[in-house]
Amino acid sequence: MEKVQFKRHRRLRHSANMRSMVRETHLHVEDFIYPLFIVEGENERNEVSSMPGVFQISLDLLKEELDEIVSLGIKSIILFGVPKEKDDCGSGAYHDHGIVQEATREVKKHYPELLVVADTCLCEYTDHGHCGVVENGYVLNDESLELLVKTAISQAKAGADIIAPSNMMDGFVAAIRQGLDEAGFVHIPIMSYAVKYSSAFYGPFRDAANSTPQFGDRKTYQMDPANRMEALREAQSDMEEGADFIIVKPALAYMDIIRDVKNNFNAPIVAYNVSGEYSLIKAAAANGWIDEEAVAMEMLTGLKRAGADIIITYFAKDAAKWLQITK
Ligand code: PBG
Ligand code: ZN
Repeated sequence: MEKVQFKRHRRLRHSANMRSMVRETHLHVEDFIYPLFIVEGENERNEVSSMPGVFQISLDLLKEELDEIVSLGIKSIILFGVPKEKDDCGSGAYHDHGIVQEATREVKKHYPELLVVADTCLCEYTDHGHCGVVENGYVLNDESLELLVKTAISQAKAGADIIAPSNMMDGFVAAIRQGLDEAGFVHIPIMSYAVKYSSAFYGPFRDAANSTPQFGDRKTYQMDPANRMEALREAQSDMEEGADFIIVKPALAYMDIIRDVKNNFNAPIVAYNVSGEYSLIKAAAANGWIDEEAVAMEMLTGLKRAGADIIITYFAKDAAKWLQITK
């Protein structure tokens, strides 16, 4: 009988060293941005019930947390504030001594090299829980922009290295760029949540940040999960307005979008591996249904392979440890 010709792909999978020689995607600790929730008050280290291993931390305990982060080799954090008081215009977001501004100063005091990304939004500071100024149940665009610009400038003044606006108002990159430039912060980059979907995967974050909308939802400003072409329009306008990084959020159910954005725009692409994606793995692992490390690393590798240059992830500390152990 004539020999059937076929290709032997398994040759390159024969041993661990062979597999690592031909591996296309590598995770590095430099890829990660670790989110931190800073709560007003003292001696607070409250585990978020829907996010095991994630804590709301008060300023006086922040240094301890930073010691660990830095010792693991993590080079960047993103800060979220959990204030005691809220009002209808979210004034805690742009107060010069707001919780994120104070936390930024604390980080810079101990670890000036550690990159501080400031999440720039109002929902953690508004009593109604929406990301902007509300009138008759609708979030106003241009009025919200003014507050967002004030927030960004106060964060930059406090020492933030990167401004990351997340409220999905139209024109937020242009407005913040102009505001930062006029305030003397031409050197501060904008990491835009350009492609942010209205997602049920944010549920655990809203527990952590205490930012659930008190009425309605965010569908009039965040994107419809069914849309793909719209992501390109959002990324395009933010690039034109001067964004330095583009975030796609969530990540796991949106890997096609990460790839589209990577292929179409020449900027560092950031995947936000959101709270619900973390909680899914934590819950299944706690039940003994999956191998937490293997699944989490597979997910992070997949996000990078999909086109993410950088990943914001609650797994950053764990992944940094897992990467240190040579396998
Ligand atoms: C604030 C903000 C949210 C997240 C990041 N910034 C929540 C939201 O839009 O409701 C979600 C992050 C996560 O789920 O991990 N606008
Ligand atoms: Zn918000």
